[in-house]
Amino acid sequence: EKEKTLAMIKPDGLLGNYTERIKDVIVDYGFSILREITTQLDQDSASRFYAEHSSKRFFPSLIKYMTSGPVLVMVLEKENAIADWRALIGPTDAYKAKITNPNSIRAMCGQDSEKNCVHGSDSLLSAQSEISFFFEDVSSALHLLSY
Ligand code: CMP
Repeated sequence: EKEKTLAMIKPDGLLGNYTERIKDVIVDYGFSILREITTQLDQDSASRFYAEHSSKRFFPSLIKYMTSGPVLVMVLEKENAIADWRALIGPTDAYKAKITNPNSIRAMCGQDSEKNCVHGSDSLLSAQSEISFFFEDVSSALHLLSY
C-alpha cells in the first residue's frame, strides 16, 4: 500500500543550494515526487503550520527561521513513505544527526535543533493535514512533476 508524506526543504536548505542533492536522495530511495511548490511562508501561515509548537519556548525563533526565505514543499509517495522519509532525514537535532546518523539528510545540510534543513510528517494524520495545508487535490498521481 503506497503512502504519501509531506517533505519540506527549509530556508537554510534552499539558501545552501542543497535542493538537487536532496532530490537525488529522494529519487534514489524510491520516492516519487507527486507535487512540489516553492513558496514563502509568512508569519500567519508559518504559525498555523507549526500551531502544535505555539507554546514552546523556541516558537518565536522557529517562525523567524521559517519565514526567513523560501521553502520547497513536496508530496512524496512510496510504500511506508512517512516512516522511511523520517528515517532518511534523521533526528530533529542536526548536530546530533552528524554524530549518530552521519548519512542522514540533516547531517548533510542541517546545523542544530532548529536549523535542521528539512521537514517530514510524523504520522498518517499529520501527513494528511500537512499535505492539504499546501495542496488541494492529491488523490491521484496525474500531477507527477518532472524536474
Ligand atoms: P520539525 O521537526 O520539522 O518541526 C518542528 C521544528 O521546530 C523542528 O523541525 C525544528 O526546526 C524546530 N525545533 C524543534 N526543537 C527545537 C529546539 N529545541 N530548539 C529550537 N528549534 C526547535
